[in-house]
Amino acid sequence: MTPWSPNVIVTATDGSDQSLRAANVAAGLCRTNDAELFIVTVVRPPEGWWGIVGAPPPAESLGNALSDAQRVVLEKTVESVDLSGVRYQTIEEVGDPATQLARFADERNADLLVIGQRGAGLVERIMVGSVADRIVHIATMPVLVVP
Ligand SMILES: Nc1ncnc2c1ncn2[C@@H]1O[C@H](COP(=O)(O)OP(=O)(O)OP(=O)(O)O)[C@@H](O)[C@H]1O
Ligand SMILES: [Mg+2]
Repeated sequence: MTPWSPNVIVTATDGSDQSLRAANVAAGLCRTNDAELFIVTVVRPPEGWWGIVGAPPPAESLGNALSDAQRVVLEKTVESVDLSGVRYQTIEEVGDPATQLARFADERNADLLVIGQRGAGLVERIMVGSVADRIVHIATMPVLVVP
């Protein structure tokens, strides 16, 4: 086997403390491996879009409210994480978070997907969050789950 050495790392942020810690781990790994970092946030479209449209609409067509919320999440992440010396891009996606994150990472041939064990969900959980749980099941690359 060829040695594993990441060129592309994707991290998923919902603005929660755990997702910020995950992004910080991802940034550190990018720095030491000279890898490119994608910081991705996914917004769920309002109920109804799925049945009518059949596919997630582009972010622009959902109006300003959703993309404003995404911008806040991405700004908070970029401010909180040490990104010095890291080549990074922020990405906004629309749809089911786990599905979109796994698809995006797959399309970019990511070598690693870094996520938080839990997120911004209001319910205090004993188990891992539902997005993290689903990503671990459907991802096509290694997943690093940060507590
Ligand atoms: N909308 C999202 N966009 C990007 N990343 C997300 C999103 N939602 C969750 N994540 C990622 O998944 C990790 C786990 O969050 P998850 O949503 O599974 O937990 P939770 O919010 O505590 O639980 P639940 O959403 O099931 O109530 C987060 O730390 C983040 O890395
Ligand atoms: Mg959540």
